[in-house]
Amino acid sequence: MFEECIPRGDSLVPPISISAVYRRTSTGLPEREYLEVKYGRENNPSVMVFEETMSCVEAAEYGLAFNSGMAAIAAIAHYARERDLRVLGSRLLYGSTRRLLERILPGEKLFFAGPPWDELLSQVERADMIVVETIGNPTLRVPPLEDLARECRARDCMLVVDNTFASPVSYRPLLHGATVVVESLTKYIGGHNDLLGGYTGTRVEEVHASLWDWRRLLGGTLQPLEAYLAYRGLRTLEIRYKRATQTALFLAERLSALLGEDNVIYPCLPSHPDYERAKKNLNGLCGGVLSLDLGSAKAAQAFLESLEIITPAPSLGSVDSLASHPYTSSHRGMPEKEKEELGITPGLVRISVGLEDPRILWRDIERAVSRARSQLK
Ligand SMILES: Cc1ncc(COP(=O)(O)O)c(C=O)c1O
Repeated sequence: MFEECIPRGDSLVPPISISAVYRRTSTGLPEREYLEVKYGRENNPSVMVFEETMSCVEAAEYGLAFNSGMAAIAAIAHYARERDLRVLGSRLLYGSTRRLLERILPGEKLFFAGPPWDELLSQVERADMIVVETIGNPTLRVPPLEDLARECRARDCMLVVDNTFASPVSYRPLLHGATVVVESLTKYIGGHNDLLGGYTGTRVEEVHASLWDWRRLLGGTLQPLEAYLAYRGLRTLEIRYKRATQTALFLAERLSALLGEDNVIYPCLPSHPDYERAKKNLNGLCGGVLSLDLGSAKAAQAFLESLEIITPAPSLGSVDSLASHPYTSSHRGMPEKEKEELGITPGLVRISVGLEDPRILWRDIERAVSRARSQLK
């Protein structure tokens, strides 16, 4: 799928350049400072190889790699604050993204709406920048990105799409009208739980140049070894993502039969509120994350304690299956009332499916559900 993006030099593997400083003799200022390699906090050759490859994958003209997904989002938040933009975010944004926006932007410039998605769409006219996730954690809601892009274009606002849960395998936001795509490389792109990283891609040079400036000022550039690992992750991204998606659907269907369809959340299940949109937008690939509601915090804890193959850990998108408790991890800072409105219940468990044999994963889940049930009797 991304074969044309791989650089074809004499060396099949790009070198890892660990020098923090580079020779510079020029006394002039370059026209495009973001291209100059002189100091590792600004640019690095290994990071630039990754950025070029990743930008081709995302259909971006300009790309930047950061030392975490949050560092990428911080640069965007500073960009918005500096320009006095009014920012509209989905209520389902990753908890730390939401908290970061709240810390950086003045209260009167930041508001949240939706799901329901009509609520989000009805607020677009008040915004200069909209921030959404392709698949919103942990209820895996899929916003009407095409409608948002259309409305945004008509009003000259920026659409920022955090594509971490979908990955470029199922969706490439810049091809559908987004201004900026964000990825946490820590998840599907790295894919092996051994790197932290973030990425922004855009087709607008002014946005790129400003994000680059924020990146160097905040000291947020990706490190060279991580850049190499992220590059290597890209080489297997498609095959890993498709396999995780297939397994997630297999598990979601079985769990639906075991727990009832109201207690299982997966966008490619007909019971999901965004099923039709997910099938259309995500190319039939709904990703490797699913959620299940076990009814209470006690049952969720018993389930997590009973897992033997799946590791309870707060991340996603890797070769290993992981399970987490959004109520007390990713969304712990959200007010109780809002958690209730958004369906983030104390009994909710999120599973990120890895590359293990689907039947072994199913056995692990079935056993943990039955132990959780028997402990509660
Ligand atoms: C959707 C989403 N965006 C951004 C981030 C932040 O990425 P990182 O942990 O690499 O800083 C996360 C982390 O879980 C996430 O789930």
